[in-house]
Formats: sequence, structure tokens, C-alpha cells
Amino acid sequence: MLLPLFLPLIGALTVKGDFFQLDSLSNISRYYLNYVYCNIWEEECQSQQEDPTIQVPTGDFWSLLTADYIQVLSELYCSFGQCCDNGDCRILNNVTGLEKDLEEKLHGQHLAKEVVVNAVRGFLKNSMPDKALALSFHGWSGTGKNFVARMIAENLYRGGVKNECVRLYIAPFHFPHAKLLDVYRVQLMEGIKTTVQNCQQALFIFDEAEKMHPGLLDTIKPYMDYYDNVDGTDFRKSIFIFLSNIGGSAINELALDIWHSGQDREDIAMDDLEPRLRNDVLESQGGFSQSRLVSGNLIDFFVPFLPMEYRHVKLCARDAFRAREVDYTEQMLDEVAKGMVYFPKEEKLFSTQGCKSVPQRISFFLP
Ligand SMILES: *[C@@H]1O[C@H](CO)[C@@H](O)[C@H](O)[C@H]1NC(C)=O
Ligand SMILES: *[C@@H]1O[C@H](CO)[C@@H](O)[C@H](O)[C@H]1NC(C)=O
Repeated sequence: MLLPLFLPLIGALTVKGDFFQLDSLSNISRYYLNYVYCNIWEEECQSQQEDPTIQVPTGDFWSLLTADYIQVLSELYCSFGQCCDNGDCRILNNVTGLEKDLEEKLHGQHLAKEVVVNAVRGFLKNSMPDKALALSFHGWSGTGKNFVARMIAENLYRGGVKNECVRLYIAPFHFPHAKLLDVYRVQLMEGIKTTVQNCQQALFIFDEAEKMHPGLLDTIKPYMDYYDNVDGTDFRKSIFIFLSNIGGSAINELALDIWHSGQDREDIAMDDLEPRLRNDVLESQGGFSQSRLVSGNLIDFFVPFLPMEYRHVKLCARDAFRAREVDYTEQMLDEVAKGMVYFPKEEKLFSTQGCKSVPQRISFFLP
């Protein structure tokens, strides 16, 4: 049944590159190729609008597009030497790139930097991990939790969060109504299962995890546990990342104490903070804390994000100017940093919004 579609495809792949121009290809194969390109190798994707001769096929065609088929195609593509040392073109696993990105673009987070790189590197090195990697990012808004999650996605997967192996769930957006819990549970389970069946190494990011219902989080528990298979699927190569503001106040207090004692912020060690954070998470109210992910010790690393100081906000402003390729002066960076609100009231030390909205704020200075 698959053969008629397959033959022109093989023909196309052997000539590489300019196969969109090949008249000998039927429209349906061209459409199919484009579909595969758009979904697996984004950078070579051609939009349907740009080429009106590519027509949308109808009927049974879509039923052929199973996840397995895409997997087979991806392997076939690789067998022509187009890509992939690791056998899956969608996966980059560039830990060096991740380390470099964190070093250059993440400011004021020496702990997060270190823990994330070590955790990810250690996990990827192990070809048979005994459970999925679970990271939990904690801190106030604007401290870089989202930013780091995105950098992980970008350095581990081609196309970053748009890669089909990466699923991003934003609690208030994807799961807004408590009374639909049962529906969400099924959706979430299906989403996780199909993603892992399709990509051995999948990445799941849960933003605003403190707003997720504990019952919903418990749904994920079996996938994060030490089982070699759940309903016939092995989830142990997956990565789960939870972002929340839980423990943010404890982190801020410690950062303030350190500042008062005259110590360097970089002197804060994981041992100072992690037990406090773990405790805070266990004791706080709300979905994530009440779920069995935490009480069942399934979170491998609690990663603290420290509050951002004036000098860090300046660095964020610098990056924002650079990203827009606009020249900046020290004075402009100060201007942006001064525009933020700082706490506590007396010391005015930490930015209440971290670096959030800094990219928007530089618009005032743009030509
Ligand atoms: C593809 O579709 C276009 C537009 O309908 C048509 O003109 C062309 O002949 C088709 N090509 C093939 C190879 O079927
Ligand atoms: C990994 O990332 C670094 C830094 O961004 C880049 O120079 C390098 O080419 C990447 N390696 C691979 C294999 O993509």
C-alpha cells in the first residue's frame, strides 16, 4: 500500500536538492515531501503558498501519514547521508552549544547554569537511563526559566520548541478549567504517548506548573518513573521540565541575606539552597507541590533562579540591543535598567520583573 508513494520519493531523494522542480514527480509526492520537510527539517521547508503547483491531496492520503511512516522516512533520508550521527535527524544534542548559550546569554544565574549543563550532559551520555530526566526550575518571573528551557530545546532539537519531539504546555492556556480535568488527563496522556512513540528522546516543558491541577500532574507520574515500559512504550529517554514560581521567595531571601553579609552572590552554593527549595516546594500549596511527582521523589534537580540585580538587567538590555543590531551606549543601558522597579523597599536590590519586558523597553531608543 505504501509502495506507490515510496518509489517516486526514493527517486527524488537520490537527486537531492532541487527535486521540487522535477516534473516526473507526481503532485502528491511533492506535497508529501514538502509535508515531511516542513515537519522534520524545517529550514528546508517551502510554504504551500510559494508554490501553487503543490496541491493539497484529499481522502485516504492522510491516513497514510502515520507516525511510523514519518519515522521510516526520516531514517531513509538519513541513509542517503544527509544528516545524523545519532540516527534521528531531528535531534542535535549539542551540549557544547547549550553550555555556550548559557554562558553568553544567561545573566546572574551561576547555579542554574551549572546544574542544567551537568544534568543534561550526564543524562545524554547514558545510553540506558533508568528513568526520564526531570528538572524543576524555580524563581520569580523574568529570572530566565523560560529562556533556559528554550535554550535546551534549541540546542537539543533542530528547530527548538517547534520540533515535533518537543511539547510545550502552558498551564493556564492548555488546561484552564478545573472541571475539565478528566478531558485534560486524556489529552495529556495521549500527547505524551504519541510524542514518545514518535521520538525516542522527547522533551516536555510545563510552564506555570504551579497552576496545574495535582491530579493532572499525577497523570504524568508513570512516564517519569523507573519503569522500563508503560503500555509498551519506554519513556526513560525523555526529558521533563517544570517551570514555576514556587520557592521564589525563599530564593530571594537567601540572596538578600548573602548580600547583607557582604558575600558574593556567586558564593551561593547549591547545598545552601537546594534543601531549602525542596522543603519550600513540599510545603507550599498548589498543583505542583501537592502532586506525587514531588512526594514520590521523581524530580531529579530543583534548579533555583536568583533574583536579578541592576547590573544583570543592564546585560539583558545589552543583549536586546545587540539582537536588534542597534548601537548602544552605557548610558542607554543605565536608562533601561533604571526604568525597572526594584525590591526590597530599602535596599532596592532586585528587579521585581527580572529581565522581563527589557526587549520591549529598548524600543524607546530605537531609531
Ligand atoms: C500538478 O498540478 C498542476 C496544477 O494543477 C498541474 O498543472 C500539473 O500538470 C500537475 N503536475 C503533475 C505532474 O501532475
Ligand atoms: C553546537 O553549537 C556550537 C555553538 O553554537 C556550534 O558552533 C556547533 O557547530 C554546534 N555543533 C553541532 C554539531 O551542531
